[in-house]
Amino acid sequence: MTGTGSFELQPLNSFGVSARAERLITISDRQQLSQLHFRPQRDLILGGGSNLLLAADLKGTVFQVRLAGRELMRESDRSTRVTLGAGENWHAVVRWTLAQGLSGLENLSLIPGLVGAAPIQNIGAYGVELAESLLEVHVWDWQARRQRTLDRDACAFGYRDSRFKSAEPGRFLITALTLRLQHHFTPRLDYAGLAQALQETSKNPQAPSALEVSDAVIRLRREKLPDPAQLGNAGSFFKNPVLDAARAEALAAQHPELPLYASQHGRFKVSAAWLIERCGWKGFREGDAGVSAQHALVLVNYGRASGAELAQLAARIRADVWQTFAIELEPEPRILPPLPALA
Ligand code: FAD
Ligand code: EPU
Repeated sequence: MTGTGSFELQPLNSFGVSARAERLITISDRQQLSQLHFRPQRDLILGGGSNLLLAADLKGTVFQVRLAGRELMRESDRSTRVTLGAGENWHAVVRWTLAQGLSGLENLSLIPGLVGAAPIQNIGAYGVELAESLLEVHVWDWQARRQRTLDRDACAFGYRDSRFKSAEPGRFLITALTLRLQHHFTPRLDYAGLAQALQETSKNPQAPSALEVSDAVIRLRREKLPDPAQLGNAGSFFKNPVLDAARAEALAAQHPELPLYASQHGRFKVSAAWLIERCGWKGFREGDAGVSAQHALVLVNYGRASGAELAQLAARIRADVWQTFAIELEPEPRILPPLPALA
């Protein structure tokens, strides 16, 4: 499908903000790609639009990825390789893999969006990240103008980060992923609240099934986060800042109740939600742009907020957290155009 002229993107982003693009091209077959040209400064690749803030109209083309496909290849008694088209719905494939008796994705249940966007920020939740089960990312390389397969090491995955997001944005269109999933389930229940939720819902909370873990994650997420179908949002608007040990200790001495989590290389992750709530923003609303009263890290559109209003609110929150704690919050979603640097 190709739409030309001026194309309204409001139904295609989870904030539900109005923005127009010049053209929309739906990619449902990889063969289309060799005929197309991508201009990173003007064009946009779109999945489910759940990690995106459109703060202005786009001057270019939106490439809507709708590549389908679900394939299983048994490797051994222990594992199966699963190849998924970029246009598949993430949560639907998580539930489908569980129905096949495969585990590994249960903690990542109910994350909105499509498969192709999952490696962009290495989606994570409840103590698990995509990178742990990912084997290969299949891409169209706009620079080399050919299809390529990148193994996990080539993707430079980090916390809410990858080669696709920071080092080479705009170089690749992800067409499919290959994951390795397990036949024998090892629960991952370290994340606060998960083991407790299973106490209430699982038949055997000490040894829950993968499906029970998925159900518990779904339940927790529904309690904590607003549903974009009811209230426009893009999940966490900022990443949790990662600080070196000295900085984290100094902050904890000043604020003993600050939630701190051990991260890699002796560093500490700080709760951005706590910092924002402490600055008084939780439940704030101006016009239709606000901060969820349910979760301080989630910006929300109560109806007719514009993307620019939400971006301005994000900039105010970031400036306030900087002035109060000298910590720079980094936005998690893609913002078009990006927020200006902190003054
Ligand atoms: P989009 O918003 O369409 O795109 C995001 C970025 O990826 C854009 O830069 C886009 O250009 C690029 N992109 C998309 N598809 C492709 C492709 N095929 N090839 C190349 N580039 C592409 N994220 C988490 O990690 N953990 C969570 O727990 C979580 N919870 C959320 C809860 C809610 C309520 C919401 C609304 C969002 C949440 N998110 C979470 C964020 C979001 O769901 C994920 O980042 C998801 O992977 C985005 O998928 P999407 O298809 O909607 O991507
Ligand atoms: N908290 C507050 N105020 C709030 C909400 C939370 O102070 O309004 C504090 C509490 O102390 C709470 C802590 O923050 O214990 C952590 O909260 P939560 O468990 O909700 O996790 P989060 O750090 O806010 C992260 C991810 C989420 C992911 C959850 C579960 C980031 C930026 N966000 O949120 O991902 O679902 O953990 O693993 O890492 C997303 O990326 O869009 C997203 C929703």
